[in-house]
Amino acid sequence: MTVTIVGAQLGDEGKGGIVDVYGDDADVVARYQGGDNAGHTVVHGGEEYKLSLVPSGAVRGKVGVLGNGCVVNPATLFEELDALRQRGLDPDVRVARRAHVIFPYHRVLDGIEEEAKSDTDDEVGTTGRGIGPTYEDKAGRRGLRIGDLADPEVLRDRLEYTVPLKRALAEDVFGVSVSDAGGDSEGDVDEAFDVDALFEEYREYGRRLREEGMLVDAGDFLADRIDEGANVMFEGAQGTIIDIDHGNYPYVTSSNPTAGGACTGTGLAPGVVGDGEVVGIVKAYLSRVGSGPMPTELGGVPGDTPGYDGDPDDPRTESEKLAARIREAGGEYGTVTGRPRRVGWLDVPMLRHAARASGFTGLAVNHVDTLAGLEEVTVGHSYTLDGEEVLTMPAPTERWAACEPNLRTFDGWPEFDGAAVAAEGYGSLPQNARAYLEYLEDELDTPVYAVGVGPGREETVVREHLF
Ligand code: GDP
Ligand code: IMO
Ligand code: MG
Repeated sequence: MTVTIVGAQLGDEGKGGIVDVYGDDADVVARYQGGDNAGHTVVHGGEEYKLSLVPSGAVRGKVGVLGNGCVVNPATLFEELDALRQRGLDPDVRVARRAHVIFPYHRVLDGIEEEAKSDTDDEVGTTGRGIGPTYEDKAGRRGLRIGDLADPEVLRDRLEYTVPLKRALAEDVFGVSVSDAGGDSEGDVDEAFDVDALFEEYREYGRRLREEGMLVDAGDFLADRIDEGANVMFEGAQGTIIDIDHGNYPYVTSSNPTAGGACTGTGLAPGVVGDGEVVGIVKAYLSRVGSGPMPTELGGVPGDTPGYDGDPDDPRTESEKLAARIREAGGEYGTVTGRPRRVGWLDVPMLRHAARASGFTGLAVNHVDTLAGLEEVTVGHSYTLDGEEVLTMPAPTERWAACEPNLRTFDGWPEFDGAAVAAEGYGSLPQNARAYLEYLEDELDTPVYAVGVGPGREETVVREHLF
């Protein structure tokens, strides 16, 4: 059977931790979209693992698959694998031949376009990993697939077609000399547009992928495992509101984190995914990286929150102080940049939208410990838009930005020992925390399967075993 893990909000809901908890009973953990823009944290035995590309199940020794819906930077992949090996793990990761390859020029172009948009404050705040430009090339039928790396002739032909186009885009459209573009951490920027250099480097990745037996046809590979009775977990990256179709376009990533992506991004039929569990991962409040609206935001982060120029390190208003407190308690700082993340109250219309888009069969609600100790916990229950109450997110992003949240307040709960509560079970959560969770169950008509009460594996209250 299958279990699909989907971020219900804006990413960073704690998907990695939940994959780790439930992954115990999985045989295979497959990513179906995104690339090294993800940052999934697994805390185990006092060790913290931050994975951007390798599926989180690797920490438990599960077979990991990067499905055809992923975009793969081979440099990151091998770096991560080598780092895990140095820490004593033995990751077994397969990559779909149909997954697309992120090249250095994609990363450079990601930076160039963000820079160009920043003149008018229109930048998305991407992770700079070349995700958007790679999916653009996939849709534009000029991308290279992982399987192509193992075929030097195809690799060279495609690079000879694509690279001059990319150089012209940078230089003639954006007016940026690629020698001055900078911002690519993988080495010399000129080399990012040098067919010969790219050919040599990527042919070598192709050789390594083939020699290490990592190349698979993901749909066949996974279908065979399922036929053999294996349990397969699909690990979504990002979240519903940054889904390119169901999110707040254009402040989105370029793939489908929603459950449909698990079919198109692995090569398995909708019935296979639909037969299994689809678990929506919810953070008990909200965090956001990058720009775009956020109706329940508390305080703000300059550069990301539209029109905000306060200082997150010097909170003055009540709302800024609450934001600072939640940010501190929840560790809401970018994993790579250390920049403060935007935080806000739980947005329930957003969750209704997410539950419908993916058909959640259950929820995992994380960071219930982070809110402990607050006198009151607030949620955005609905919005007011043009004088009317609306219960779900309107589609145009500008309309969503115009929504005023109608807040609902719950009595807070005291701090508690997460590991002890997880060991004793759901009934030992503070009563007000349970009331909060039961409100969510009612509103989304979906049971809460698990509750995160701390970052560690043993700090998760598991109500339902999934496989
Ligand atoms: P992902 O991208 O959805 O996998 O989430 P991230 O790993 O980017 O961010 C979640 C952060 O919160 C990580 O540092 C986790 O270790 C941590 N975390 C996850 N669940 C909980 C929880 O229930 N309580 C607390 N305090 N931290 C959690
Ligand atoms: P995980 O899997 C949070 C955001 C970026 C930016 C937008 C587009 O850890 O939850 P991209 O680089 O994908 O083109 O950026 O999406 N973003 C994320 N935010 N968590 C993530 O992943 C994210 N991946 C991308 O900040 O606003
Ligand atoms: Mg993350």
